[in-house]
Amino acid sequence: MDTFAFIIHPIDPKRDVSRKFPLLGRVLNERQIDFFSTFFPPVFISEIEGISSQTTGKEIKGWFIACPYTPRRMMELPERTVYRKIIQTGRMAEKLGAQILGLGAFTSVIGDAGVTIANALDVPVTTGDSYTVTVAVDSIREAARVMDIPLSGATAAVVGATGAIGQVCAELLAEDVERLYLIGRRQAALEELRDRLQVRARAELIVSTKMDVLANAQLILTVTSAIHDVIRPEHLQPGSVVCDVARPRDVSAMVAAARDDILVIDGGMVDVPGSVDFHFNFGFPPGKAYACMAETIALALEGRFEDYTLGKHLTRERVEEIGAMAKKHGFRLSGFRSFEREVTPQHIETVRRNAKNALHLRAVHP
Ligand SMILES: NC(=O)c1ccc[n+]([C@@H]2O[C@H](COP(=O)([O-])OP(=O)(O)OC[C@H]3O[C@@H](n4cnc5c(N)ncnc54)[C@H](OP(=O)(O)O)[C@@H]3O)[C@@H](O)[C@H]2O)c1
Repeated sequence: MDTFAFIIHPIDPKRDVSRKFPLLGRVLNERQIDFFSTFFPPVFISEIEGISSQTTGKEIKGWFIACPYTPRRMMELPERTVYRKIIQTGRMAEKLGAQILGLGAFTSVIGDAGVTIANALDVPVTTGDSYTVTVAVDSIREAARVMDIPLSGATAAVVGATGAIGQVCAELLAEDVERLYLIGRRQAALEELRDRLQVRARAELIVSTKMDVLANAQLILTVTSAIHDVIRPEHLQPGSVVCDVARPRDVSAMVAAARDDILVIDGGMVDVPGSVDFHFNFGFPPGKAYACMAETIALALEGRFEDYTLGKHLTRERVEEIGAMAKKHGFRLSGFRSFEREVTPQHIETVRRNAKNALHLRAVHP
């Protein structure tokens, strides 16, 4: 049977450590987990079984293995120390017999996005970023549809637009919408991106380093590598849709608490073909995976045991190819979730009603 492995790591330190080590998660505080994670070895998490292609019937198995570092630790430690730990975790995948290795969350963000790691390992490596783009853009298109926001007349924004995932998301959305804000931290990099996208874009492209411009956007796709939230309730207009692809999240939990007139959806969740059992709870309902996991699994189902998505410059060709490959094997966009809860049709209806009321109030009392 063909095989794959996928590296995960604690994102919300207390919650995620508790999922594997309930006692440690209970007694250690977040700062202590950050500190001790430096000395922890890679951890075997679980065997993954039950995946089968909808088209070919091929069955594969895989493993979750964990790099113990938290996002904060990966940002604080020297890059080569982080690479060393991820490579050590990759060696565990090799010993297990994995034929392809996926890098989850921050293990794909750090440094050159997988290139150094792939060079050091014998097993082929992918970050999963190409399929994450496909799923993120499809999610926001679908969310626009259910919220009755016609794409061709919409104002959208990509936050983290200069990033590996953000750039291609911006490229694709620029062909859909009327106006697109490219938001990031570096003005010069944003302008360079705008000039590059301008050639094919249908949208008017506006660059900004300020989150305040989000108040102009109806559709927001956010995908920064910030280790804290960057989007807060006051940034958003009633009736807007925010697709949060980042892990850790970009959207503050305060948005869910304070704004019942906005639809926030978790980006990057798909149904896995077959009757998959991950033998580990990473926070999704049964049968569903992150898009970056799905890319690794789709490559294993296809028998494409090669370095696939690596580095900070994704190509549109790869994004389209992996989208078609995943579709062929039966990966599908899942129903929406928001802050780890299912988004029901009633929830969408409530958001639409509250947004209408809020906009009416604004018109009456500007
Ligand atoms: N849901 C999924 O399946 C999935 C899959 C893969 C990755 N991800 C997540 O996607 C995110 C981005 O990954 P990536 O590989 O595209 O990262 P990346 O290439 O490092 O890009 C990150 C982007 O975020 C911006 N940024 C960083 N810190 C920021 C801050 N404090 N405020 C505002 N902007 C900030 C960066 O701006 P500069 O250009 O100025 O540095 C850059 O534009 C990560 O959270 C990762 O975990 C999710």
